[in-house]
Amino acid sequence: MEAALPRSVALEERRVPGRPKPGLTSPGTTVRATATSVSLPLRFMLTGLMAFVVSVGWIFIKPSILATYHYNQYVIAATHLVVLGFVCTVVMGAMYQLVPVALETKLYSERLAKWQFIIHVISFTGMVWMFNVWNMKHVGHFGSGLALGVGLFVYNMARTLWRVPKWNLVATAITAALVWFSLTIFAGLAIATAKCAYEATEGLATADGVKEMINGLQMVASVVSRFDAIGAMHAHAHLGVVGFFVLLIVGVSYRLVPMFMLTELQSKRRATISVLLLNIGLAGSVVTILLRSDWKPVFATVAVAGLAVFGWELRAMLRARKRPVLDWGLKSFLVAVGMLIPVCALALVLSWPRLPMNQFFSLLENVYGFLGLFGVVALAILGMLHKILPFLVWFGVYSPHVGRAQLPLTTQMVSERAQRIGLITYLVGLAIISIAILRENELGLRIGAVALFTSLLCFGWNVVQVFSHFRRPQIKPLSTDGGKARHSVRTDEESPVSGGQRTACSTTK
Ligand code: HEM
Repeated sequence: MEAALPRSVALEERRVPGRPKPGLTSPGTTVRATATSVSLPLRFMLTGLMAFVVSVGWIFIKPSILATYHYNQYVIAATHLVVLGFVCTVVMGAMYQLVPVALETKLYSERLAKWQFIIHVISFTGMVWMFNVWNMKHVGHFGSGLALGVGLFVYNMARTLWRVPKWNLVATAITAALVWFSLTIFAGLAIATAKCAYEATEGLATADGVKEMINGLQMVASVVSRFDAIGAMHAHAHLGVVGFFVLLIVGVSYRLVPMFMLTELQSKRRATISVLLLNIGLAGSVVTILLRSDWKPVFATVAVAGLAVFGWELRAMLRARKRPVLDWGLKSFLVAVGMLIPVCALALVLSWPRLPMNQFFSLLENVYGFLGLFGVVALAILGMLHKILPFLVWFGVYSPHVGRAQLPLTTQMVSERAQRIGLITYLVGLAIISIAILRENELGLRIGAVALFTSLLCFGWNVVQVFSHFRRPQIKPLSTDGGKARHSVRTDEESPVSGGQRTACSTTK
């Protein structure tokens, strides 16, 4: 009997901390050492999804948040529920899982990640609440908690990246994204600091240490107040959304797309140029947005050029793929990448310095922000979750049985119909809401929110299907047919939880 076990099954083996010396790690040990326990990413992902459901519900209950100019407390609160509650939470969970796998290393500390989860959830909930009642002092307090959590996350990731045996473009993109993320948090805290009053002249405010801290905050506030408030907000928003979210989508695609579609990077040079242009474009855009400079369109064009080169490479990888049929998770992801086209077009228009600041263009800014967050970032995440969640659950439930039983495929754990309806209704929702924003039509916004909600119900249906395997695993005994059979028990995919190895077990008797 010959049993070819997936190299991801034995996870207990741990590598000695510290940067491995090239040549000392065999492929087998590398892969075994990669996977993080499934409960860690799952708690991040499920919490993030709940925050997304609440965000969509918020649009339904208070459609005016999208039908008025976005510089008000309710939009800012709802935006942070999406960016911190949904996107950051899911992305952090996914990174704890995928970064070690994609870069063939091991997460530095799961314990730290568990603490970070608690700090993150308390902090983003408090921030959203305090934005909503516009209490900037407490936004600052909860924001500092969030910054602590992000610090732990970045530290954990940095230590993980430090162990990467072979540095590559994906590692560079992830590192750059983490730097932009940290700057976003600093910028957010600085903006909040500038909006606080420092009037207390007695009690705790006079205590040693506290007095110095208040002086420091006042200095930060006086620097930030020199900039135009809208410019500062837009610079902070682009730092986070483009620098962290979009750069991660681009960087991680160069690893996940080949993994999922059985293809290869077609031009390393093209991929490098895309990441480089995106970073230069972003850095220049942040400065020019902050200073309200006439150079805004130049850097916006550089960033858009980076994304165009990314699209070019993605197309080349797709054409060279060995798996002709794309599943709905990948389709959603590709549609999200396609949504970059209208979003980039809007970015170029809105970066024009002589743009009249009338009602139409201010609503167009809302459409730009909405499509950027919901059309590109959220949809790309939902697409990837369609793939990652079944794998995580499959891995948690079935990996101990590999080679000993017949196991379901990950594609059999979800309803394709629900995925298809989910994508269609999501796109309908995006279209309705975009038009309704421009027409300031609250009924239209509510109808669009219902479409998005329907899509999330379809997604939720699949999540329930996937999680039902924890309660009712579908394990069948291997058939015995006189030595002629070849049982192929596999997930039929390149697995992100198993280090990109085919999670397969073939038992030939
Ligand atoms: C400690 C963390 C953060 C703090 C304290 C913070 C603070 C703020 C503040 C005070 C504003 C309003 C600016 C103003 O009123 O002039 C704002 C807006 C914004 N922030 Fe943050 N932020 C944080 C993290 C983030 C992150 C991580 C992202 C994205 C990745 C983000 C994205 C945005 C966006 C998109 C807006 C604009 C909202 C709108 O258009 O209405 N923020 N932030």
